[in-house]
Amino acid sequence: MNLVFATHNQHKTDEIRHIIGNHFTIQNLKDIGCFEEIEETTNTLQGNALLKAQYVFNKYGINCFSDDTGLEIEALNGAPGVFSARYAGEPCSFEDNMNKVLKELKGITNRKASFKTVIALILDGNQYFFEGAIEGCITTEKMGIAGFGYDPIFLPQGYSKTFAALGDDDKNKISHRAMAVHKLINFLSTQS
Ligand code: IMP
Repeated sequence: MNLVFATHNQHKTDEIRHIIGNHFTIQNLKDIGCFEEIEETTNTLQGNALLKAQYVFNKYGINCFSDDTGLEIEALNGAPGVFSARYAGEPCSFEDNMNKVLKELKGITNRKASFKTVIALILDGNQYFFEGAIEGCITTEKMGIAGFGYDPIFLPQGYSKTFAALGDDDKNKISHRAMAVHKLINFLSTQS
């Protein structure tokens, strides 16, 4: 089965291809010649995931899925959450976002956090959702160079290394996105 993953983020595309293996062929937006920025205008992960997938399905008529992920930090009342990509303002880098989180958590002992991913799939015009989450905490400094986003400051529960220090292979076995993708794969397997 051929599916479009509605993202411009090459790192996320690589992660998803890595997790999916040879179950399905995944194209991203660049592969189908879609260069527009699809604005995330809702205030939920589910809403944003759906609007990206729906945009592609409506415009290109191709079965498509999209994901939206948020980092939720307990001591910050769930922030940055749905605003994870632009927490430090727009435009901002991964470094800016991490620095803002580290600054806000300075001196705070409750560093509990979780990553949540929602995948929206549009298959033959029907909508389906798959979720994954992982608990952990925010470190006091950045550790590791792999991955992207907040990976250098997220320590998954039960591990002694951040996502960025664990590296792609180990991250992709346990991550929020991996969990949601496995649910997607299981579902798609029942469809063909
Ligand atoms: P997106 O909307 O799914 O692209 O995710 C929003 C933001 O959350 C990204 O810009 C990253 O900063 C962050 N993010 C998403 N997934 C991950 C991850 O697996 N590790 C670290 N940060 C992530």
